[in-house]
Amino acid sequence: MTALSQGIQVRMLYVSHAVGPQSTTMTHSILMQAQAHNRAHNISGVLCQGQGFFLQVLEGQRSHINALYGRILADTRHKDVELLHWEETTQRLFGRWAMALVHLSVNDPMVKLHHPDFDPYAAPGPRVLQQVLDLVKSGQPIELPAQ
Ligand SMILES: Cc1cc2nc3c(=O)[nH]c(=O)nc-3n(C[C@H](O)[C@H](O)[C@H](O)COP(=O)(O)O)c2cc1C
Repeated sequence: MTALSQGIQVRMLYVSHAVGPQSTTMTHSILMQAQAHNRAHNISGVLCQGQGFFLQVLEGQRSHINALYGRILADTRHKDVELLHWEETTQRLFGRWAMALVHLSVNDPMVKLHHPDFDPYAAPGPRVLQQVLDLVKSGQPIELPAQ
């Protein structure tokens, strides 16, 4: 497939508050949906979850990312969805993962040490993206095994 036929590629980052407890059942069901859909549409990214937050990076063709974000906005498993960052890009940061999972804990020594003022709703988008990259590097992202 040529770059042209893939269309404009984008990367976006949003934050949200989980509705109810972030149980492993909930995480599992989100990841199962994400894995199947994202693979089929060549979408990559990472989902950071914990402490009542979701932080998610999505990368892929602009039309696919827009359509997915529309569904994610309507998902009742979370609320207060706020777009933090959006950029056109030719290079994926998370191309290895249809959807990686990183646990987000503000008690994590790494998060405390490097980001003592961690509040994604108050921080500039590019900085939160950098924090997500740091987490992925240090947090050993987990991907569900292929079905
Ligand atoms: C925090 C969060 C992240 C999600 N990430 C994805 C994702 O990466 N890919 C995906 O297909 N669905 C994801 N979903 C699920 C979608 O919101 C939605 O349930 C799914 O796309 C099915 O939509 P539909 O019921 O309208 O078909 C996510 C949901 C939540 C709450």
